[in-house]
Amino acid sequence: MDSWKTIIWSFLMVFAVLSSSFFLAVTTKSNHHGLTRKHTSQSHPISHISIPPSPAPEAAPGPKPGDGPDGHSQPTGIFDVRMFGAAGDGFTDDTDAFKLAWDTACGAGRGGPAASTILVPRGYSFMIQSTIFTGPCESSIVFQIDGTVMLPDGPESWPLNKSKRQWLVFYRINGMSMQGDGLIDGKGQKWWNLPCKPHKGVNGTTKPGPCDSPVALRFFMSNNLTVQGLKIKDSPQFHFRFDGCQNVLVQSLTIKAPALSPNTDGIHIENTNNVEIYDSIISTGDDCVSIGAGCYNVHIRNITCGPSHGISIGSLGVRNSSTCVSNITVTDSKIMYSKNGLRIKTWQGGSGAVSKVTYDNIHMDTVRNPIIIDQYYCLTKSCRLGPMHEPDAVGRGASAGAGGVCDESLLL
Ligand SMILES: *[C@@H]1O[C@H](CO)[C@@H](O)[C@H](O)[C@H]1NC(C)=O
Ligand SMILES: *[C@@H]1O[C@H](CO)[C@@H](O)[C@H](O)[C@H]1NC(C)=O
Ligand SMILES: *[C@@H]1O[C@H](CO)[C@@H](O)[C@H](O)[C@H]1NC(C)=O
Ligand SMILES: *[C@@H]1O[C@H](CO)[C@@H](O)[C@H](O)[C@H]1NC(C)=O
Ligand SMILES: *[C@@H]1O[C@H](CO)[C@@H](O)[C@H](O)[C@H]1NC(C)=O
Ligand SMILES: *[C@@H]1O[C@H](CO)[C@@H](O)[C@H](O)[C@H]1NC(C)=O
Repeated sequence: MDSWKTIIWSFLMVFAVLSSSFFLAVTTKSNHHGLTRKHTSQSHPISHISIPPSPAPEAAPGPKPGDGPDGHSQPTGIFDVRMFGAAGDGFTDDTDAFKLAWDTACGAGRGGPAASTILVPRGYSFMIQSTIFTGPCESSIVFQIDGTVMLPDGPESWPLNKSKRQWLVFYRINGMSMQGDGLIDGKGQKWWNLPCKPHKGVNGTTKPGPCDSPVALRFFMSNNLTVQGLKIKDSPQFHFRFDGCQNVLVQSLTIKAPALSPNTDGIHIENTNNVEIYDSIISTGDDCVSIGAGCYNVHIRNITCGPSHGISIGSLGVRNSSTCVSNITVTDSKIMYSKNGLRIKTWQGGSGAVSKVTYDNIHMDTVRNPIIIDQYYCLTKSCRLGPMHEPDAVGRGASAGAGGVCDESLLL
């Protein structure tokens, strides 16, 4: 049939500067069969994960966590954003109400075991501006989203003095469950159509210059996070980005954006470990899940991707950087109508290792490149003439090899 029925594949790969001693070992644990390829009809622009610098979020807003609005700790409970003045009519800017609800919930329950719940009630639509929700909090937080939360409509509604790289940021949180059956609406259309996006300028050109668009939900330097049940659609850029986090469980999500929306990865993780991504349906214009630098112990199970650019490790090693990714398992998943299936991409000039990767029982249908390992990931013509031709490239490769940057215990 027109699909890869089953692939069980595990390999170890070490990458280093091209043309220097690099090592690649692939072990096929079990045969795949029934291999035929069907091509996707559209020709997508080359996918890439933009690699924005990772600035710390801007100054922490609001009162110090631990203080209620009156400066005293409050008992845990349910903090409905409407109690803090949110209108939920789809037009009013409800940012201040959400911040106040956060600060109150975050400061509540000092010492107690109970969680504080922030409730976004069903039947209401809340428009909020880019916000950083900062911890640590006094108790764990349940962010219960049963209604709709949405971004302002397009770049023109974005405050000039706010970063355009992120919308909602959760920073230094230890213990939070974001859940509910509500919707997060990224209203990405106007961002995707900016003239700086691929082929969106006059006559299908791409205008040069900065082209920042916000990640919808960014979890930064946080631990013990669960995100479950929600629907999220049409992010201007990545839908979820976890970086510098530990113990992340993502399950039963539906993520949806058009096949041609630029850079709308479903879930991106980097420098994040102990991650479980289960039972989710993801269709976007870019990677379904992308696993960036410094991730280890990642288990992805029962997800359906497509359209998408598949499940990617990388790109790694940009600008000669060193990095390691280890212990990544993808099982019992489906990839359909996608540019790529399972991909590992590393830049020429980078060093480090990708190891202990297992793909087991992945069904593919209508995937142009079912498995692709690109150790010469390069988006412009000029980098094709890059470090390969440098006389000292070999020496650098040897000295910046896996041993120097990877924890040996993660490798084998
Ligand atoms: C951004 O501008 C708004 C209104 O002009 C102001 O209230 C706010 O403090 C500014 N924020 C920053 C981070 O400068
Ligand atoms: C766009 O294409 C049209 C028709 O080919 C041409 O007349 C026009 O000059 C082009 N505009 C730009 C900005 O290149
Ligand atoms: C995560 O939660 C567990 C159990 O609730 C706790 O023991 C652990 O310290 C937490 N992890 C971090 C990094 O705070
Ligand atoms: C797999 O995920 C889907 C949701 O995408 C869910 O309906 C189904 O029950 C899950 N299957 C298993 C075996 O958990
Ligand atoms: C690999 O990751 C899984 C979680 O996906 C974890 O249970 C397991 O302990 C990890 N293995 C090692 C050797 O750390
Ligand atoms: C990477 O290293 C090569 C060789 O040393 C050097 O020519 C090149 O400029 C470096 N690239 C970057 C982006 O630093």
